Amino acid sequence: MSDSVRITGLGHDFEMPVVGSVDGPAGFDISRLLATTGFTSYDDGLANTASTKSAITYIDGDAGILRYRGYPIEELAEQSTFLETAYLVIYGELPTATQLAEWEDRIRRKTMVDERMREFFRMFPRRSHPMPVLASGLMMLSTFSFDSLGESPRAIEKATERLIAKVPTLAAYGYKNSRGEAMLYPDNSLSYIENFLRMSFGYPTEAYAFHDEITRALDVLLILHADHEQNCSTSTVRLIGSSGANIYASVAGGVNALSGPLHGGANQAVVEMLAAIKDSGISVKEYVQQVKDKKTGIKLMGFGHRIYKNYDPRAAIIKQHADAVMNLKAGRRDLLEIAQELEQAALGDDYFVERKLYPNVDFYSGLIYEAMGFPKEMFTVLFAIGRLPGWIAQWRELRSNPKAKIGRPRQIYVGPAKREYVPIHERD
Ligand code: SDX
Repeated sequence: MSDSVRITGLGHDFEMPVVGSVDGPAGFDISRLLATTGFTSYDDGLANTASTKSAITYIDGDAGILRYRGYPIEELAEQSTFLETAYLVIYGELPTATQLAEWEDRIRRKTMVDERMREFFRMFPRRSHPMPVLASGLMMLSTFSFDSLGESPRAIEKATERLIAKVPTLAAYGYKNSRGEAMLYPDNSLSYIENFLRMSFGYPTEAYAFHDEITRALDVLLILHADHEQNCSTSTVRLIGSSGANIYASVAGGVNALSGPLHGGANQAVVEMLAAIKDSGISVKEYVQQVKDKKTGIKLMGFGHRIYKNYDPRAAIIKQHADAVMNLKAGRRDLLEIAQELEQAALGDDYFVERKLYPNVDFYSGLIYEAMGFPKEMFTVLFAIGRLPGWIAQWRELRSNPKAKIGRPRQIYVGPAKREYVPIHERD
């Protein structure tokens, strides 16, 4: 490939240097485009625009490949733990046994939050959706974290460990408040995942009984969500961070972006869709017809992806775990069967095949979370706990770049041309 590309016909020929990649598409550097040609680029939804260079995650959407720091997601899901994967995503290398033990110990000792924060969670109405509660909890956490709001490596390290350690506690407190139940203190004798499960489902009056298949399934689900390059919420974290805002404010922005049903909120929307199909009594075939009829505006939630034009590798792994967890008391095997029927119907239908629409990470994950005992409103909070290492890693990567600039996209103006002010008595 040549090291530059020329655009002609814009009045001024424009030479664009090629920006090479280790894997995946290279790019054209258009940073001088507007100043040189008077033209800007236009890319609705930024589907063709690289917003940054990054060394964290690689996705090949056509081949269904996902790698964190070069390691295939299948190998990490099979052999790693979420805390080990979080270390890899954030620091770039798999930890040695000593590094992992020290990392786990540092995290374990930071899981508590200031006592006044426990009262803060009691102020939310019980029916509050846990995503705004989590975002508020993050902003509250920042007000108690004066020594980790700065730019020093020590402050960023403190904030990194505090977020990884405390976000599950915030999530569990939001959930316990929604149930009017006691908020448990973390237990340092437990693993990261066990601690979160006990704070979510445990009671101060009795020991919590763990199920190994649930603990491992949640560990794997969080691994699968740990990062996903420049998705909507991660791009939001980067954009907020590019202004110099602290990591708590940036991650809170990521939580809010993730809450949308087209993004992380899809795992809740999938289970609502499956239940609606079940309750309405319509056949899967009829529902697929409704999705294909553009006038209905109905989307097959949990299907389709901006990058994966093949089966989302995460969905394939989640599907393997669905069966094992579905036999638990809260498992909705009836909805799993509808999901499997929907998948078969869609994968055999030209509408979906032509548009390369396959199950994504959200199609089966909600069914597993529900089988674990989480209400559907908590599903996207679980996505956020998983995505946290990625948001942190991407924010740190941005802020470690001395040449990083504040994000400030341009636009194509299509509003009214210049016009004179009309005094109110002259307006009809
Ligand atoms: C996540 O970016 C990431 O990496 C995100 C994520 C991560 O880990 O961070 O992977 C997590 O957000 C997964 C996606 C969860 N969202 C959903 O499941 C919601 C349903 N999916 C769609 O809304 C949609 O597929 C998107 C938003 C995921 C992707 O949308 P795009 O890339 O903008 O694609 P598009 O809307 O331009 O769709 C292309 C065509 C359109 O039809 P035509 O105009 O060509 O006729 O496909 C159709 C769309 O109408 N289409 C769907 C569909 N998704 C796309 N039709 C029915 N059901 C769907 N789900």
